[in-house]
Amino acid sequence: MDKDFILPNHVGIIMDGNGRWAKERGMIRTMGHKSAIKTLKELCLHMADIGIKYASLYAFSTENFKREKSEVDFLMDLFMDSFRKEFSFLKERNVRVVFSGRREPLPEKVLDAMDQIVEETKDNNNLVLNICINYGSHAELVDTTKKICEKVQRGELSIDEINEELIQKNLYQDLPPLDFVIRTSGELRLSNFMMYQASYAEFYFPKVYFPDFTVEEFDKAMEEFNHRNRRFGGVKS
Ligand code: FPP
Repeated sequence: MDKDFILPNHVGIIMDGNGRWAKERGMIRTMGHKSAIKTLKELCLHMADIGIKYASLYAFSTENFKREKSEVDFLMDLFMDSFRKEFSFLKERNVRVVFSGRREPLPEKVLDAMDQIVEETKDNNNLVLNICINYGSHAELVDTTKKICEKVQRGELSIDEINEELIQKNLYQDLPPLDFVIRTSGELRLSNFMMYQASYAEFYFPKVYFPDFTVEEFDKAMEEFNHRNRRFGGVKS
């Protein structure tokens, strides 16, 4: 890699288009989710190899519970299997897994698998993989506000101490801001994904559906990031 090449410190990926990918191949929607697992495994390995420090993945939104029960059940089983088996290679690759989102009403079997992979990878110090399940930015703001109010109520904190740093520390995870958000499938929306953390992120919307978002596509996205001129509210250089 060129020595001047800049990698985003924190990448967010909205993994969209699994259903359409499957439909275009005459398959049922869930086959798209299954295929996404293979893509995701390769991407995780690649991100760890090239030195991405933080990656946040939008796996299931608070709104996704409105989908047909059969699809929600399929996804819950897929998450459980992935964390128990498919993603166990992350342990050996020094990847630390954390989760963002509400635990309620995720099934116990999924929560157990999530807790297990968090525990097994907690001492790893390469890539931090933040998996957003039953996640929504609005819910996160509500939950963060409640957490802070409870501390005030218990007398552990005064209102004057509430500042940006404190809010950051009380989010689901205290991670650096997102530098680059990728949403596959050509949709141009954030859909309630890490809005607070994405305040100064660059956005990239490749047309490919997530199962086709290969390592080569990821590298194209990294090239694109290198052509952006980030100003953070300052003047153009
Ligand atoms: C969006 O595509 C995708 C989802 C709601 C599920 C994402 C899940 C995975 C990639 C599976 C694995 C994840 C982990 C972390 C194990 P869509 O179904 O909305 O597609 P469409 O827009 O074409 O209908």
